[in-house]
Amino acid sequence: MAFSLDQFRLDGKVAIVTGAGGRGNSIGRAYALGLAGAGAAVIVADIQADGAKVVADEITAHGGRAVAVRVDITDPASARAMVDTATSAFGGVDILVNNAALMAELGHQPIADVAIEDWNRTLNVNLTGALICCQAAIPAMRARGGGRIVNQTSGGAFPAVGIYGISKLALVGLTTTLAKSLGKDGITANAIAPGNVTSDAGKQLVPDDSAFLQFLKMTVAGRAQGEPDELVGALLLLCSDAGAWITGQTLHVDGGWVLRP
Ligand SMILES: NC(=O)c1ccc[n+]([C@@H]2O[C@H](COP(=O)([O-])OP(=O)(O)OC[C@H]3O[C@@H](n4cnc5c(N)ncnc54)[C@H](O)[C@@H]3O)[C@@H](O)[C@H]2O)c1
Repeated sequence: MAFSLDQFRLDGKVAIVTGAGGRGNSIGRAYALGLAGAGAAVIVADIQADGAKVVADEITAHGGRAVAVRVDITDPASARAMVDTATSAFGGVDILVNNAALMAELGHQPIADVAIEDWNRTLNVNLTGALICCQAAIPAMRARGGGRIVNQTSGGAFPAVGIYGISKLALVGLTTTLAKSLGKDGITANAIAPGNVTSDAGKQLVPDDSAFLQFLKMTVAGRAQGEPDELVGALLLLCSDAGAWITGQTLHVDGGWVLRP
C-alpha cells in the first residue's frame, strides 16, 4: 500500500494519557491535545483530578472527545478503573501513553546516601506504575486486535544519573520486554526520551539561570531546550499506522543531546 499522510490520523482510536492533568504547561497536556487533534478520543488521567478535568474540558471545547479520570498509577484497581472508563465511554483502548512520573519533586541525593523510601517511591511510580497501567490496558488492546504503548523515558537515563535516571533507564528495559512479548498480538511498545523540556516541571527542575542549562547549551548539538508540543510529532508516529512496524525502540527528541549509534 502506498504511503499516505492519513496514516498519521487516529480517527476511531481511543487513547489513555497518564500524567496529563498536573501542572498548567505539561507534556501530558500536549500529548492529550495532540492525540485528540489527530482524531483520537482521549482519557486524560492524572492523580490530580482537577487538572485532568481542565485538560479534558480544553479538548472538548475544541470539538474533540475526552474524559477526565483520577488515577493513581501505583494502584492496580485504580488503573483497571481507568481502563473501564475508557471502555464504557469510548468502547475500548488502542493507545496507552505512560507519561506520569515523579521528576521535579525528586531531590538530588547522592546514591550512597539515598533514602530507601525515596528509592522505592520513585521506582514505584516511574517504573511499576507503567507496568501496572500496561497490565490493565493490554487485555483491552488484545480485544481490539492490537495497540500501541508509549513509555515516557528521559535523556537523563543515558547514562542514568540519580534515582530518576535509574527509573527511566529501567523503563527502557520494560519497553523492550513489552515489545518482545506483545509483538505477535499486534501491540507495539516504544519509548520517547525527551531532552530538557520547558514544561512547568522542566523549568522548575532546570531554571533559566542554572549551571545545568549552561552545560546543555554548550553540549547539545542543536537547541538545548524544547517545548512540550515539539514531542507530539514523535508520539503520533509511534501511535499511528505510520509507525506500525516500529517497536522496542527509544526515540530521542532532544535537539541532539543524547547521540547514540
Ligand atoms: N520536562 C522535562 O524536561 C522532561 C524531560 C524528560 C522526560 N520528562 C518526562 O515527561 C513526563 C512529563 O513531564 P512534565 O514535565 O510534564 O512533568 P509533570 O510533573 O507536569 O507531569 C507528571 C504528571 O504525573 C502525575 N503523577 C505523578 N504521580 C502520579 C501517580 N501516582 N498517578 C497518576 N499520576 C501521577 C503528576 O500529577 C503530573 O501531572 C514525565 O514522565 C517526565 O519524567 C520530562
